[in-house]
Amino acid sequence: MFHKTFLTVAVSALLLSSFSANAHDGATGVVKERMDLMKSIGKNTKTIAPIAMGSMDMDLKTVEEGATNIAKAAKEALTKYPEGSLDDITEAKENIWTDWAKFEGLMKDLSSNAEALAKLAADGEEFELTDAFTKMAGTCKKCHMEFRVKKP
Ligand code: HEC
Repeated sequence: MFHKTFLTVAVSALLLSSFSANAHDGATGVVKERMDLMKSIGKNTKTIAPIAMGSMDMDLKTVEEGATNIAKAAKEALTKYPEGSLDDITEAKENIWTDWAKFEGLMKDLSSNAEALAKLAADGEEFELTDAFTKMAGTCKKCHMEFRVKKP
């Protein structure tokens, strides 16, 4: 029980820190498009987190749909980081392009982990969801720590 609570708290903290940096009014073009994609990833993650972590009633359909949305958005997001696409508003860091293979690898991890989660939900494997969700959420953190500007 402690374990689950701890994970839920950790995941909520991750989501809160993602959502607090929501000041992207004025973003345009490809930067806005990828922010919107990341925002939808954040929204879907927030929807499925309490279900996958066991603090809300099981709802396999919602987890399947949310995880599928995340996988799709992650794939599309990779096309929204053309080299040097930085402006005043973006939280993307320059090392995305000097370390592209790693960035791309993490985004692909996110989509494959989200696909794995969607499949478990589709197969009714409700007891596997917590681990699969935690694994997926781990990729958010890894990438943000390295490739996203930390806001105070
Ligand atoms: C491969 C790297 C990577 C992965 C994986 C990743 N993110 Fe992000 N995320 C970013 C970058 C880079 C930005 C900043 C984009 C910008 O400002 O141009 C960002 C921004 C965000 C934002 C802010 C969007 C906004 O409103 O501007 C949220 C919310 C977010 N991510 C949530 C998540 C969640 C939840 C996950 C995991 C399910 C995740 N991200 C996985 C790289 C990643």
